[in-house]
Amino acid sequence: MTTHNYFARWSTDLYGSGIEFQRTIHVLTAGIVRGDTLDLGCGSRVHYYTANAQRWVGMDLSQAMLDDLRFFGQPPRQPPEKIAASCFEPPFEDQSFDTVCAMFLLHHLGQYSARCSRRRVVQVLATAHRLLRPGGRLLIAESARRALELPYHAVFPALYRIFRLADIELPYFWTLRQLLAMSRTAGFDDSLVAQIPIRERIVNPVSGIALPPLITNLLQHMTLIVLTKH
Ligand SMILES: C[S@@+](CC[C@H](N)C(=O)[O-])C[C@H]1O[C@@H](n2cnc3c(N)ncnc32)[C@H](O)[C@@H]1O
Repeated sequence: MTTHNYFARWSTDLYGSGIEFQRTIHVLTAGIVRGDTLDLGCGSRVHYYTANAQRWVGMDLSQAMLDDLRFFGQPPRQPPEKIAASCFEPPFEDQSFDTVCAMFLLHHLGQYSARCSRRRVVQVLATAHRLLRPGGRLLIAESARRALELPYHAVFPALYRIFRLADIELPYFWTLRQLLAMSRTAGFDDSLVAQIPIRERIVNPVSGIALPPLITNLLQHMTLIVLTKH
């Protein structure tokens, strides 16, 4: 079993459509995503604003996700390019993009321990930094963890190994503070943050359970981070 196979089993219609936080992401990203754009872990639904994207390249481990790719709004100006590959190995020259997106990807890079997970996230953030042109932006969407999720993360190393035996790759979530610290380590020194309250039931892609918004908001903050490469 590989990470690749695990994500290939996911439904390509993860959250359905018309979810409010997705509409909010669409509106808030209108002034952010522009020019040549790379989406790491693009999945099957692109909710951010793509009308100002020129070239758009989506990378995902899952070919099924790429085959069912749909844009929530006006698509990019050029036909989308799709690459079935790991975000750790993007086949591009340095400074190839004006925008890089990592939408709900980073928590899926978790493996084995906080230290290992952190190393993987910093590696991908540093790769995004390298691929951006000066003035380019990295757009991150994450379910930033809150204090109530501490117990899960305390036992993550043991849980991760157990679930892996059942072919499940458990996610490792980060606090906003940790996300910003990792971004700085990767070379970004400037950040904008927006947090979006969840007002509807959202199905968790790992458990398949739709938690009430009250619980979701107690556990996590839906967070957008915009980082600029200087
Ligand atoms: C929660 S989904 C998010 C999809 C999409 N970005 C969105 O916002 O709806 C995470 C996606 O990351 C992909 N993924 C996980 N690990 C990856 C990796 N190492 N490289 C590329 N894609 C990866 C999965 O296949 C999945 O489609």
